[in-house]
Amino acid sequence: MAFRPPFRSMATTAGRSLKIGMLPADGIGREVLPAARAAILALGSSIPKPEFIDLAAGFEHFTRTGTALPDETVSVLQQECDCAMFGAVSSPSRKVTGYSSPIVALRKKMDLYANIRPVTSVSLHQLSDCNSTAPISMPQVAADPTAKPDVDLVVIRENTECLYVKQENQVNTEHGKEARATRLITERASRRIGEMAFKTALARPRKHVTIIHKSNVLSITDGLFRETVRAVPSLPGVNGKYDEVAIAEQLVDSAVYRLFREPNIYDVMVAPNLYGDILSDAAAALVGSLGLVPSINAGDSFVMGEPVHGSAPDIAGQDIANPLAAIRSAALMLRHLGYGDGANRIEKAVDAVIREGKVLTPDLGGKSKTSEVTNEVIKRI
Ligand code: NAI
Ligand code: MG
Repeated sequence: MAFRPPFRSMATTAGRSLKIGMLPADGIGREVLPAARAAILALGSSIPKPEFIDLAAGFEHFTRTGTALPDETVSVLQQECDCAMFGAVSSPSRKVTGYSSPIVALRKKMDLYANIRPVTSVSLHQLSDCNSTAPISMPQVAADPTAKPDVDLVVIRENTECLYVKQENQVNTEHGKEARATRLITERASRRIGEMAFKTALARPRKHVTIIHKSNVLSITDGLFRETVRAVPSLPGVNGKYDEVAIAEQLVDSAVYRLFREPNIYDVMVAPNLYGDILSDAAAALVGSLGLVPSINAGDSFVMGEPVHGSAPDIAGQDIANPLAAIRSAALMLRHLGYGDGANRIEKAVDAVIREGKVLTPDLGGKSKTSEVTNEVIKRI
């Protein structure tokens, strides 16, 4: 499965600018996206000159204008941008008439069918040695002498269907209210996410895919996902390409259990939308913080970087959000576009800052501000 050029052809990008749509949206999305921007700018001439296009989206935009994802944002992304970065959106937990999550909508509108979420620890043990006196939110894992092995896995989350098709309804019955949701699983979407998982595994040293499902209960929907992903290596045209990739499967509930007990059994985990969403937040706890875990939303013709975390209203506006997930998301986006050297430089700088442990935000036990951590990364790029 080849990555086709973005809507605005990569060939035309060469030698001139890289147009990046920037959608900070809400809460800490607005605090961490400038960090991603600064990291991209710090690469200098090793990538085409970045040109940032600020685009509107989010709940706050909805409350002001009545739309969470303006048509103009989508058309600029499709027609003018080579790629994009999304911050986070503050979707309310109650139904708000007329509102629908712009990130869920964007993934579908742009057909960004794969959410690729690498979860990797940078020496947990060194993190636990940092001199901070602040409470350390993660390091029970690190401080424990029987500490878990370091984590190095990728969650590949199907991004366009499952319960996220958001077909819900509620009726009144004689016993009270009754609500239902439709869960969509198609062979097409399961096949392409399966292909993404095998392709990703083939490029990694361990070459191992675990299919996450709940087919023992949902034998039709999850059954189709499981069967379709399993069949990817024998698809016409694959011609033994994935022979080296081992396949395993795990029911989603016990997958969470095993993720916490023995995370190193996992390499590439491929899952339907909801399970992938939950698993990747769980995996983030193993590496210290949601503020460290990046992702890209990838389709065949566009890529959008996005930290895994949400808008974190509990810490928004305090300049203490960890910017590293957003910065790492920028690196993943650049690598997906073919700028691997630039991506490596950003990732090495981030890893060095974490390893050194002197300038960290409070989620990692540090006392530094978002801006200070960002500057520390920039210095190293
Ligand atoms: P969350 O990811 O925003 O926060 C969970 C916990 O992690 C909070 O304690 C928060 O302070 C912490 N955290 C998250 N990112 C951090 C960072 N960069 N640095 C330091 N700490 C960080 O999840 P929550 O609280 O469940 O959701 C809050 C809002 O975010 C909701 O409105 C939800 O709809 C939205 N959300 C949006 C997402 C997106 O835009 N893709 C994804 C997940 C949630
Ligand atoms: Mg999530």
